[in-house]
Amino acid sequence: MMRAALAIWILSAVICVGRGHHQIGHDTTGQDTVLDSSANSVSLVTSANKDFAYRLYRKLVAHVASEGKNIFYSPFSVSIALAALSVGARGETHRQLFSSLGFNSSLLTQTAVDQAFQMLLQRANKTSNEDTREGTAVFVDHRFKPQPEFLEALKQSYFADAFNVDFTETTDSANTINKYVEEKTNGKIDKLVENLDPSTVMYLISYIYYKGKWATPFDPELTKEDMFMVDENTKVPVQMMNIEKNLNTYYDQGINTSVLHLPFNSSYSMLLLLPDNMATLENVISPSHVTKWLKWMKSRTHKVYIPKFSIKASFSLNNVLTEMGITDIFGDRADLRGISEGQKLTVSEVVHQATLDIDEAGATAAAATGIGITLMSLRHIPVLKFNRPFMVIITERSTENVLFMGKIINPNI
Ligand SMILES: *[C@@H]1O[C@H](CO)[C@@H](O)[C@H](O)[C@H]1NC(C)=O
Ligand SMILES: *[C@@H]1O[C@H](CO)[C@@H](O)[C@H](O)[C@H]1NC(C)=O
Ligand SMILES: *[C@@H]1O[C@H](CO)[C@@H](O)[C@H](O)[C@H]1NC(C)=O
Ligand SMILES: *[C@@H]1O[C@H](CO)[C@@H](O)[C@H](O)[C@H]1NC(C)=O
Repeated sequence: MMRAALAIWILSAVICVGRGHHQIGHDTTGQDTVLDSSANSVSLVTSANKDFAYRLYRKLVAHVASEGKNIFYSPFSVSIALAALSVGARGETHRQLFSSLGFNSSLLTQTAVDQAFQMLLQRANKTSNEDTREGTAVFVDHRFKPQPEFLEALKQSYFADAFNVDFTETTDSANTINKYVEEKTNGKIDKLVENLDPSTVMYLISYIYYKGKWATPFDPELTKEDMFMVDENTKVPVQMMNIEKNLNTYYDQGINTSVLHLPFNSSYSMLLLLPDNMATLENVISPSHVTKWLKWMKSRTHKVYIPKFSIKASFSLNNVLTEMGITDIFGDRADLRGISEGQKLTVSEVVHQATLDIDEAGATAAAATGIGITLMSLRHIPVLKFNRPFMVIITERSTENVLFMGKIINPNI
């Protein structure tokens, strides 16, 4: 297993061009304005999601830099989960979510964002002859009654499966959630949730699973053991695949990075980026780089070596999201009145896990995001127990005149 930060971006939404817009029928006259505005919100949301992906990447790098860990995650899964949470957020809590997700155009109301995700989710599931699966689910404690409009919006726009669970049975309910995610990700993510907070009343999940075959597979006979340079002083053995053929590449001189384009047998591709200096690349990479690379890359014969591997990455996103400006959801300022008006809710955790397997035939990637929502009143009943020496003061409130004062060190004498 490699410890180096492997810079691999799977471009899913990015390369899925030329689809979708045509699905909308133009046969009903007078609907064009509606259709134009929903196509417009899809493109605004898609563009926001792309920007969010790179901002999130830089935050993750900053958080795991010292640990020498791989980074692999699904920005789309995180965006979906937070957009679904936004449905129930109000006031400043909602503003923070929208602004950090990049949904700050005045055209992007919650309804417009919901419709955009509805289209993006539908589109993803429709990719022909590929195994792509995306979806959401919401697990609700059987005693907790969320606002019906919240659940309705989640089912309508985010295709959420809804389940009733008993969250006081923390092990059973965690197992139920983990089994669901395991099934949806074909066994790739089997333990998303651990140590559930017993005051959880709702758990939101988004998952994504992708399995693609290379347009040109590698020959397993050519795969040989080779060394991977983790850093100047560390080498690790890997199974190195190789291929010699016409491939699309680009050398970005501005950041001294070689880009290899490996298409899957579909509308998806993998871009592999090999920089001279990882930090230079990480600091600047943006959606416009990808646009440039895809546009200008040239086909020529190359001999390419890529390791065969399976990795798994796991993150708690609480700190990362807080640094990105999503602060209120995690504390007593959380305004989730769209989920419940009567009960004060807060977000206890946002967790994310992802896996990537690359071999001669293709690549499989899976990810899931989980958002735990807890009841504030249960969560924060502070305990104050005067079971050791304490002081007392008896005072008149307006004058603050001290009538009595003392120290109790043993109430029994
Ligand atoms: C939205 O936010 C981004 C990043 O914070 C900013 O660059 C952009 O100008 C903002 N757009 C609007 C319409 O406020
Ligand atoms: C996508 O497919 C999965 C599994 O077949 C299903 O559970 C999910 O609801 C689908 N999502 C959409 C948006 O159709
Ligand atoms: C790219 O490499 C060249 C030659 O080694 C060097 O002069 C230049 O400073 C590098 N550029 C960056 C952005 O690192
Ligand atoms: C790619 O997909 C096409 C059409 O579905 C199929 O005929 C072909 O065999 C596939 N190639 C590979 C390498 O899987």
